Amino acid sequence: MQYTPDNTQNAGKSLPIDQILCGDNLELIQKLPDCSVHLVITSPPYFQQRDYGGGMGNEKDADEYIAILLRLFCECVRVVRNDGSIVFNIGDKYEDSNLLLVPYQFALAATKTCFVKLVNEITWVKRNPTPRQFQRRLVSSTEPFFHFVKSDDYFYDLNAFLAEERMPKQSSKKASTKVGQRYFELIAESDLSEKEKTAARRELTEVIQEVIQGQTHSFRMKIRGIHAEPFGGQIGGRTLQLKNKGFTIIRMHGNKLKRDMIETSVATVKRNKHPAIYPVEVVEELLHLLTPIGALVLDPFMGSGSTAVACKKLGRHYIGYDINAEYCEDARQRVSETPSASLRLFESSDEIPTLNNSIG
Ligand SMILES: C[S@@+](CC[C@H](N)C(=O)[O-])C[C@H]1O[C@@H](n2cnc3c(N)ncnc32)[C@H](O)[C@@H]1O
Repeated sequence: MQYTPDNTQNAGKSLPIDQILCGDNLELIQKLPDCSVHLVITSPPYFQQRDYGGGMGNEKDADEYIAILLRLFCECVRVVRNDGSIVFNIGDKYEDSNLLLVPYQFALAATKTCFVKLVNEITWVKRNPTPRQFQRRLVSSTEPFFHFVKSDDYFYDLNAFLAEERMPKQSSKKASTKVGQRYFELIAESDLSEKEKTAARRELTEVIQEVIQGQTHSFRMKIRGIHAEPFGGQIGGRTLQLKNKGFTIIRMHGNKLKRDMIETSVATVKRNKHPAIYPVEVVEELLHLLTPIGALVLDPFMGSGSTAVACKKLGRHYIGYDINAEYCEDARQRVSETPSASLRLFESSDEIPTLNNSIG
């Protein structure tokens, strides 16, 4: 995938590349040209959760909070390129034991007000949520990252998202001894005839061998009377196989399914005072998915600098804003301690790819 830089769009406009600016994001973002950044990824203050010493988050009700956030969101839409993306991570709030669903209210309003499409709600699953046990409700351990786009031509590198080479390796011994064994038990428990059971065991043994030898990535088996009919229930290939043979095997080739979920631990950064840091790993996965190397990324609520750290590690450029001067200073320090990617970055704003890019 290659970008062809074209300088015309940003000529004469200075972009504060790789800088974290202190101030109100709604004022600062006005200085950015239209369609100048590849990705906005950010986490605004959640509704009535914390006091960051200024800025938004403590509006009198959720409607006002959403209205204020939408003003910034529509500006983010303006500055994002037509092939770019906007990712907002928002947490929820209980009011009088009632979950407000603020993130979803915001996402719906955003699609209506700022003319974007919602591609996914990517769920961040926290391995170690705050250990606070409630008697009358379950512990919240997920947060949404909403992925919005301006057009259907958004940059998307699915292979780079949660790429297998970055994932912890599964023990191949465990995989080879366990794979598919449960289906043998299900065949035995089923109402299939002895002839059908013999055929099912034979085909199951074959597909297990294919997985062990790496010819097939994985598979699913459906057995008549045990599993539901394929979704949709049309009289088609698989439904007929279930009826006539008593089973069907669905082989999956190529990469693992890319699911709308990222699981990490909650972030802590040594000596950093910021109370609400999101994990650099989550940002990294979304940079891999939604930006090419050398892209320009904006975080209008930069906080402790996690977005900038992820950008620096992966060879993307960033612009960050935060209203709290102390957070800005700490974020700059944190970024300066992060090693750069050993990749060639664009040297100046004139080199940042613009709207005319061809994605090959
Ligand atoms: C949830 S935190 C962001 C945390 C960040 N994602 C991280 O990993 O550290 C929200 C940040 O928005 C900042 N903020 C609030 N209102 C703002 C505004 N109007 N302009 C700029 N920053 C603002 C707060 O100071 C706070 O640091």
